[in-house]
Amino acid sequence: MTFMPKDPHAGLDRILTLELVRVTERAAVAAARLRGRGDEKAADQAAVDAMRTELNRLPIAGTVVIGEGERDEAPMLYIGEEVGLGEGAEVDIALDPLEGTTICAKNLPNSLAVIAIAERGSLLYAPDVYMEKIAVGPGYPEGIVDLDAPATENIERLAKAKGTPVSEITACILDRPRHARLVEEVRATGAAIRLIGDGDVAGVMHTTNPDETGIDIYMGIGGAPEGVLAAAALRCIGGQMQGRLQLNTEEKLARAAKMGISDPNKVYRMDEMASGDVLFAATGVTDGNLLSGVKFGRDSIQTHTIVMRSSSRTVREIKARHQDLDKF
Ligand code: FBP
Repeated sequence: MTFMPKDPHAGLDRILTLELVRVTERAAVAAARLRGRGDEKAADQAAVDAMRTELNRLPIAGTVVIGEGERDEAPMLYIGEEVGLGEGAEVDIALDPLEGTTICAKNLPNSLAVIAIAERGSLLYAPDVYMEKIAVGPGYPEGIVDLDAPATENIERLAKAKGTPVSEITACILDRPRHARLVEEVRATGAAIRLIGDGDVAGVMHTTNPDETGIDIYMGIGGAPEGVLAAAALRCIGGQMQGRLQLNTEEKLARAAKMGISDPNKVYRMDEMASGDVLFAATGVTDGNLLSGVKFGRDSIQTHTIVMRSSSRTVREIKARHQDLDKF
């Protein structure tokens, strides 16, 4: 059952919402300094360092549940790492200091620094495997799309609910060979597809504002950690999302089992991936449809962040001009 505090002042400390902005801003600026350099690893490392430093200033007792990887493969912001000052709210954290490393390396649209913070135990502990996802923005009847329904049916139902011909629907899908059949099926309906090279957190978030982004629905298989982050975002803005882990080997099944996942075929609803009171923040690294990228001026650095909270459903956009450049 979904926990929705009636009192918007209940749940996580409200102050944290704004504190989170600094965390993604710092990570985004660090990554943006290495934008377009063709070096995914360096940009990612810079973002990780900056995010970790800033997170450790927050008055929280935080545990990373979706992070840079398992402890033996990621020295920083690994799954299970304790972050924050160790005082205040006990929270679980899902993060991706640089979502879209290749996009950043190529300086293409929609790479982000992203974080979600939730009450302890309320984010899905997803292993780093693939997840099949479907998502639409707010304003549609519950159950309008269904991961188990054929793509054609989902697109047609969405068009009907939107009150437009199918030809005016656009689906966002990662450009991968594994999606060849999905792409064929969606195109056969008459709908358009926006094929993206990377960055499906942004892809899902884009469904929340089709007038601005031109995207009505997200479909296909991407990372499971990114799925949890996207679900956290949609919990705050509104919308619907479902995900199913792709546990197609014994090794993946065993990893999932270690994280407490007993039903490998379960379809997770958005509020099962991110329940309770959730805070979410994303800062643009490169320019995108929803967020501008970091801009380096002569005397200042500008950042653009979206920050939101599920219990109040407040969505804030913060455009900041940073003049104390020493802190970056
Ligand atoms: P990175 O930031 O780790 O490079 O991930 C980018 C991304 O495109 C995600 O947005 C997406 O969920 C995942 O990779 C898809 O994985 P793959 O590239 O293996 O298809």
